[in-house]
Formats: sequence, structure tokens, C-alpha cells
Amino acid sequence: MTDLLASERLTGLAQGAYIVAGVLFILALAGLSKHETAKRGNVFGMTGMALALVATVVLALRQTSLPGFSSSVPLTLVLIGAPMAVGALIGIWKARTVEMTGMPELIAMLHSFVGLAAVLVGYNSFLGSGDATGAEASGMETIHAVEVFLGVFIGAVTLTGSAVAYLKLSAKVKSAPLALPGRHWLNLAILLACAGLLVWFVLDDSGAALVPVAVMTVLALVLGFHLVAAIGGGDMPVVVSMLNSYSGWAAAAAGFMLSNDLLIITGSLVGSSGAILSYIMCKAMNRSFVSVIAGGFGSDGAVAGEARDYGEHREVQANEVAQLLANAKSVVITPGYGMAVAQAQYPVAEMTRKLRDKGVDVRFGIHPVAGRLPGHMNVLLAEAKVPYGIVLEMDEINDDFDDTDVVLVIGANDTVNPAALEEPGSPIAGMPVLEVWNAKEVIVFKRSMATGYAGVQNPLFFKDNTRMLFGDAKERVEDIVKAV
Ligand code: TAP
Repeated sequence: MTDLLASERLTGLAQGAYIVAGVLFILALAGLSKHETAKRGNVFGMTGMALALVATVVLALRQTSLPGFSSSVPLTLVLIGAPMAVGALIGIWKARTVEMTGMPELIAMLHSFVGLAAVLVGYNSFLGSGDATGAEASGMETIHAVEVFLGVFIGAVTLTGSAVAYLKLSAKVKSAPLALPGRHWLNLAILLACAGLLVWFVLDDSGAALVPVAVMTVLALVLGFHLVAAIGGGDMPVVVSMLNSYSGWAAAAAGFMLSNDLLIITGSLVGSSGAILSYIMCKAMNRSFVSVIAGGFGSDGAVAGEARDYGEHREVQANEVAQLLANAKSVVITPGYGMAVAQAQYPVAEMTRKLRDKGVDVRFGIHPVAGRLPGHMNVLLAEAKVPYGIVLEMDEINDDFDDTDVVLVIGANDTVNPAALEEPGSPIAGMPVLEVWNAKEVIVFKRSMATGYAGVQNPLFFKDNTRMLFGDAKERVEDIVKAV
């Protein structure tokens, strides 16, 4: 076995496997961009990851088998295998138990692990390179020193930023923005201080190189916390995709430190695709890309107009809604997070089928940030076998509400809130929304008059053409299905 591991050919094979895995990751991303090819994309991704894991273990064993290495092949196998087994068990348990609505916070938590890994790899790379007091570190090649410094910096920002995102998304802390006075100056000061520390770290020959890297780590942890704490609830989706991008760059930085080509490729893929997704989301949410990176955008921390009196709301019963739908020519359904919570997509699909059989034109209007993760509603509707052709994006349907008889707002709130367009001081001001109030009748399915994720009161509920159908969305839609 040791002879086999010592052979040069094995390294070549493992490097070749890395290239194939890289190609598979690119095919996975391409596949995931369309509903029809998403499953295939996942298979490519899983195959690539399996291949990458095997190649990495083989490379580690080969290194161990080289002369002068302190560990033995069996010991290395145990050291790699045991954490992998524990990690795999936790991963399988999490994947089986996580609710679809809990995915964003899980993703945020995983991003923070990537950040932590990059910080640890950076410190290991620095401390392991020789004398931790800096005598050796100052002799490190400049490029490697910069890699280490940037890797630790990006990792630390990702670590605390993602941890705050996790706490906000899981409602463990309030999602209201933390608006410190002069917060952008604070961020800029930290960035400038870190740039100065980088220069010290690279030029240091006094043996004190650990000081700048340690101070930078603390500052970067503060920066990550502050960047995300300054973002309010409704804007969190953009932040999650931005942190996704940061975690990719953190992984790429770790790849440079470890001289691991696959980690560099994979990290860059995640980093750039996350940045593209953030850009698309910024456009959809009418937010500036630069202000997302700078942290804290929207309404400078203004809070919801809780105290505002919009008048009385009106209620309706399921059988009346069934009647209304049966007499309608055109119906648009705008689902939101509440549909996911209630798991109402199956009765919604059944209701759609029944109405279409009766000749009613039923379509869906999907807001880019409806639910809690990109494409959340599309996934649920596809799961319930709603035909793709009647599921339209917000921009495709917004002009059609004038000619729509009935809109069913099923568990959506922020994404149909006219305050975004009508109230400049609102935390969601400027965010494009589904203009459902332009339809003849609007029926809102929810359990109470509570606000949505952004904590903003919704004047839609008090409009003359709106009626509230209270209760669990699944039960109410099932009532309608029975009555149609
Ligand atoms: P939300 O504004 O979150 O409102 C969902 C509504 O569903 C709530 O008002 C709730 O009212 C209702 N609801 C909850 N459970 C229900 C049930 N079992 N039956 C009926 N209704 C139920 O939803 P939205 O319009 O989809 O907006 C999404 C929000 O999440 C946006 O602010 C967005 O920025 C944010 N966000 C999105 C993402 C992504 S990437 N999509 C990620 C993070 C955050 P009741 O409690 O009264 O029932």
C-alpha cells in the first residue's frame, strides 16, 4: 500500500480527478439555473464532491507516506476518517430534519463554518510556517503572507457576519437594523486599519508578525458583525447571498494558502455566483450593490409605522371566496412565506386544477424574495406539480393586475405591501412589490393581522377591495377546494 501511495502516478491521478470535479461543479451550476435540469445539476455536484473527497484523501495519504513525515498512513486515515464520519452523520441528520422554511438560517450557519475554516487554515499556515513570533514569518514570501492575511480577514468577516445572519433569520435576535451614528465611517476606519496592519505584517522582521494578524482578526470579526447587524429584515435575502459570495472567497483564499487548486476553483465559483446572485437580487429589490457591500441600506434604520391607523379591515369566509372564484374569469395567486409554513402548496395546486377545468384563467405571481430563500415559491409549486407555464415572475405579471378579477394573497405580506411604494420613510421603501391592489378583488389568507418578516404594517389589508380570510392557509384553501 505504501509503495502504491508513494508512486508519482497517484498524485497525477488525484490532480486529474480535481480537474474533472471542477468541471462537474461548473456543470452543476449550469444545471441548477433551470427547473428542468436542476436534478441533473445536483447529481453533477454530488459526483464532483465525492470525487474531490476521494482525491483529497488519497493526496493526504500520499503525503503521509513520503519519507520524513511523522504520521503513519493508518493514523492519517483515522485522523481524516473520524471527523468525516462525524460530519457526515451530522449532515445527514440535519438534511433529513431541516424544514424548508429553516433553510436560510442553516445556510447562514454553514457559511459561518466556511469563514471559521478559512481563519483556522490561515493561522495554521502562518504558525506552521515556523517561529510563531515572526522571525520565520517575516521570511515568508510576500505573496504567501498576503494570502494568509486576506484569507484570515475574509474568513473572520464571513464568520461573524454569517453568525449574525443566522441569529436574525432564526428570529433569535430582532431583525431591526442596528443604526450606529457614523456607521459607514466606522466600517471605513476598520478597513483602513486592516490595510495598515497588512503592510506591518508583510514588512515585519522584528518577530512580532502575530500582533498585526491578531489585531486584524479582532477588527474583521467586529466588521462582519457590524456589516450585517446594520441590515434590516426585508433586506436580509441580499445579505445572505452576499455572505454566500464571501464564503466562496474565503474558501478560495484557503485554497491559495493550502496550494489546493480545487479549493481555489470551487471557492471562486461560489464567490462569483454568489456575487452575481446578489447583483440580481439588488436589482430586483431596487437596492444599490455598493451599499450592500458597505452594510446598512434601506431607510437608515427607520422602524415600521406600527402606530399608523389605516382604518378597519373586512373579513370573508371560504365559501364566499369559492363563489367569487367560480364566477371569475382571471385569477392570480401570489404566494409567500405563509404558504410554505402551512405547506399549502398541494391544496393550492388542487384548487388551481379545479378552477382551470372550469375555464378560469389562473396564474401565479412570484416575487423575487417571497418566502425565505431564492426560488422558494417556485420549488414548492414545482413540488406540487403546478405547470411552469402559469408561474410568472413579478415583472411579467405586475401590469396585468388591472385586468384581474380576483387575487389570492396566500401567506404573503411584505412582498404585496403598498407601503414600499407609497411611504418613503418605510424600512421597505423603494422595494418593488406585487401590485395586487390594482385587481378588482383581493383576498388575503393569513392567521392574524400580524406584520410580515420586515415588521412593517401592511395598508393593503385595509383597502376597500381587500378582504381577509383568517386561519391556516392550508385549511382555508382546502375549504375552498371542497366548495368550488
Ligand atoms: P412575509 O412578509 O414573511 O409574511 C408571511 C405571512 O405569512 C405573515 O404575515 C404570516 O401572517 C403569514 N403566515 C404564516 N404562517 C401562516 C399560515 N400557517 N397560514 C397562513 N398564513 C401564515 O412573507 P413574504 O411576502 O413571502 O415576504 C418574504 C419576506 O422575507 C421579505 O421581507 C423578504 O425580504 C424576507 N426574506 C426573504 C428571503 C428570500 S431569499 N426569499 C430570505 C430572508 C428573508 P400571520 O402570522 O398573521 O399568519
